[in-house]
Amino acid sequence: MLRTPGAVRDAERWTAHNYHPLPVVISSAEGAWLTDVDGRRYLDCLAGYSALNFGHRHPKLIAAAHAQLDRLTLTSRAFIHDQFADFCRELAELCGKDLVLPMNTGAEAVETGVKVARKWGYQVKGVAPGQANIVVAEGNFHGRTTTIVSFSTDEDARADFGPYTPGFTVVPYGDLDALAAAIDENTVAVLIEPIQGEQGVVVPPAGYLPGVRRVCTDNNVLFIADEIQSGLGRTGATFACDHEGVTPDMYLLGKALGGGIVPVSAVAADANVLGVLKPGQHGSTFGGNPLACAVATEVVRLLTTGEFQRRSAELGARLHAGLQALVGRGLVAVRGRGLWAGLDIDPALMTGREACERLAERGVLVKDTHGSTIRLAPPLVITEEEIDHAVAQLAAVLAG
Ligand SMILES: Cc1ncc(COP(=O)(O)O)c(C=O)c1O
Repeated sequence: MLRTPGAVRDAERWTAHNYHPLPVVISSAEGAWLTDVDGRRYLDCLAGYSALNFGHRHPKLIAAAHAQLDRLTLTSRAFIHDQFADFCRELAELCGKDLVLPMNTGAEAVETGVKVARKWGYQVKGVAPGQANIVVAEGNFHGRTTTIVSFSTDEDARADFGPYTPGFTVVPYGDLDALAAAIDENTVAVLIEPIQGEQGVVVPPAGYLPGVRRVCTDNNVLFIADEIQSGLGRTGATFACDHEGVTPDMYLLGKALGGGIVPVSAVAADANVLGVLKPGQHGSTFGGNPLACAVATEVVRLLTTGEFQRRSAELGARLHAGLQALVGRGLVAVRGRGLWAGLDIDPALMTGREACERLAERGVLVKDTHGSTIRLAPPLVITEEEIDHAVAQLAAVLAG
């Protein structure tokens, strides 16, 4: 008897229904492959929304975690531990920044960025007390805290969670004139995703990111790049901003930084920005813990070789060529960069959810977003043959 139906039922019975997962129950994984409780194998083309950029259980990351589990797992930041300095230094160097502030989840990194930008505004820029404002983009996704959903334009994410945090101005994504017009003397930061993942892997027009950089510099405003989903190799470069030769004032990182093992996020910025925080003004019990640092240091070392960025660029070209060939044959549009793609399914054929369910039946796991869009973000360890396989399964689903 199959174990999946009962396991799905049990999972639904004992949890709040804040997710609508596909009805598969995974029990083990390696590299780009997952196995469910009934022994069926699936090619993972979501990679935990980019938290698994290096695949499941990458041997170097697992070894780092095991070694650290046997020595020291948690100290709190009340004491310093021996994994902390290397992690912060190596990540700061990868980002080309002076300092790093480690947290845990992506949302915490975003909250940290908002707090630092506001404090910087008051203490360095000289904004009047209580007036700091941050410009954000329509279609953003930066996490689920009350402050972050306050400036979401997705009603599902936002409705009925008020009262909302003030201090944010929303402008259309990709529209530089609108962004520039929204900036005034109280603006402390522009916070954007260099590619909007949750919105459907939306790539802004060429020149937008350099334009944002210019507008921020001209107006003494911090450019905060949320690279939580787009960063750390996903797009064929270390950061999505790299494709346009842009360096933000602050990187927000998460997801892949924890190697798919532990939640690790971080803010990276120069000392004139992160230096505004003094003891007691911000923190987290688990942020920068020894286990997190041990794993994340190994993640940074994997990225330092450039191998994963190269794989993402080369294999991404193959993925996008395969997907482009399906435009007009079930796909309306394909967007993305590197091993990251947003596909709009022809709504006359099926919904995004139906496409995901049919792909799962064919052993390929992806997830829908916003109705008819599905997002592909396979682990960067995926092979050419596996990409071809995924595209072939999609073609078969679209052909009905
Ligand atoms: C761009 C971006 N920022 C922030 C977050 C929030 O991260 P977390 O779910 O770890 O809080 C996400 C998660 O999908 C994201 O894609």
